[in-house]
Amino acid sequence: MIEKLETSLLSALTAVGVDLPENFQAQVAASADLRFGDYQSNVAMVLAKQIKTNPRALATQLVDALDLGDLAEADIAGPGFINFRIKKEAWSERVGQLLGDDRLGVPLASPARTIVVDFSAPNVAKPMHVGHIRSTIIGDSLARIARFLGHKVITDNHIGDWGTQFGMIIHGWKTVLDQDALECDPVAELLRVYRSVNALCGDDESVRETCKQELVKLQAGDQENLEIWDKCVELSKDGLQGIYDRLDVSFDYWYGESFYNDRLAPLVDEMIEKGVARESEGAICVFFDGDPKLEDKPTVVRKADGGFLYATTDLATIDFRVEEWNADDIWYVVGAPQQLHFQQIFEATRRRGMTPSMQHVSFGSILGEDRKLMKTRSGDNVQLVDVLDEAVERASQAIEEKNPDLAADEKQKVAEIVGIGAVKFAELSQHRMTDYVFSWDRMLALQGDTAPYLQYSCVRVRSIFRKLDEGVSLDLENLTITEDAEVHLARMIVRFGEVVPSLLDDFRPNLLANYLLELAKAFHSFFEACPVLKSEGATQNTRLVLCELTSRVLMKGLGLLGIETPERM
Ligand code: ARG
Repeated sequence: MIEKLETSLLSALTAVGVDLPENFQAQVAASADLRFGDYQSNVAMVLAKQIKTNPRALATQLVDALDLGDLAEADIAGPGFINFRIKKEAWSERVGQLLGDDRLGVPLASPARTIVVDFSAPNVAKPMHVGHIRSTIIGDSLARIARFLGHKVITDNHIGDWGTQFGMIIHGWKTVLDQDALECDPVAELLRVYRSVNALCGDDESVRETCKQELVKLQAGDQENLEIWDKCVELSKDGLQGIYDRLDVSFDYWYGESFYNDRLAPLVDEMIEKGVARESEGAICVFFDGDPKLEDKPTVVRKADGGFLYATTDLATIDFRVEEWNADDIWYVVGAPQQLHFQQIFEATRRRGMTPSMQHVSFGSILGEDRKLMKTRSGDNVQLVDVLDEAVERASQAIEEKNPDLAADEKQKVAEIVGIGAVKFAELSQHRMTDYVFSWDRMLALQGDTAPYLQYSCVRVRSIFRKLDEGVSLDLENLTITEDAEVHLARMIVRFGEVVPSLLDDFRPNLLANYLLELAKAFHSFFEACPVLKSEGATQNTRLVLCELTSRVLMKGLGLLGIETPERM
């Protein structure tokens, strides 16, 4: 609809003889306030300034010249806004088209780009905590949205599998490992080993020294240490995979830090040669001369002892992604504390003469109900598995109360879908930069801005179709949208195709989450005002089509957020 309105506006502009700047786009957008109409344009105001005329007069000329056919009516408001009110027949026609469109009105992006999404990326042999949940959930959703828009998306889990923690883990493996415990629950045992060595390091300089030696041996290729390292990485990956399976998150690649080891030395040599990096007190650094933000913040790429750093690995990773995958864009979904790191590696990459577009998709923290960083009672980081288990447990209680007749195995399945959906939605419905307060009751409420509310709305729509005795065949020709509640639901359904393409502009899945809530509300109002099962003929057909589209959009939209919908709940 926006496209049609923009085309008509452009013709009107030509008709009244306005000299248009090159590549001028007569922009139309959804109105924020529906009292003024469905869509709005400020072209008259933008152009009046440029051609020095009165905006309201120009708007009047344009409205007179507009040929909108059966699409809409236009009028003028305020200093020169042009408002469009879509006609009921046009809503009917558009809804009919959407019924036959498996993209539900969402256009494909053009040109399609090759986008690498770097997200989740926990550190091996340490548990994934709730902080990683944000990266995992936001990253997965952005990847799904970009894919749906037609981009070529490559998801890569850049796990921290080569950090200094391995000195401690190897030392612990050799001294305090419990083989039986390792077989039972490897992730828990690795964590216990890591924690106990970490505690010993705190009190004892000699333990710290031993750990350091183990790390040096590992990095020098010591056979025994490499075997231990390999085992740890494998076990941790298996543990992580279990969580990703539950979250329905998948990666095309798991190229962790260790994958780039052999590339680091030649990369640093090349940077020295090209003059991008230089020596300072024995270390090799990139100095950002001439960059006001980074001038006094050089980054080290090789330490004086020859060791490489997180930044070095990231630079090598960019090379690989550009050379091997032809990445046009790389998105790093990583918390705000790493902002400086990304500014530095992006700038260093530009200085190396490479031009992928790189974005740090940053996010805030998750807070406990006391508004402090979320911790367990003992002060440890809250672990992701525990959050998921508790969400599912709570969801299962709620389902027990609401629908006790559900079969036990279905109850379990639904609880998993609802519990995990609730955690994801709580995350995705916030602007990513806000520090959000984690609240079980709020995220699981059936009446509220939650996933269970949306899932329940979907189930409710589907149940209408179950109640129709014989299967219905929907007729996309025979549509008569008349009631206000029908118009509003149609308007919200059509909006899906406008909202989705805008989500990547500033990486904001929360706009989709909020849109879906509005759609569900429009559906509930419609359902109260307009009987479906008791209506007949074209009216019933129209209402059923609106129901069908509501459920398709809800499911597709939730799917883009990585949230499933149960059949019943
Ligand atoms: N492993 C890092 C961490 O947990 C995140 C890695 C993010 N990705 C990257 N390419 N630096 O903090």
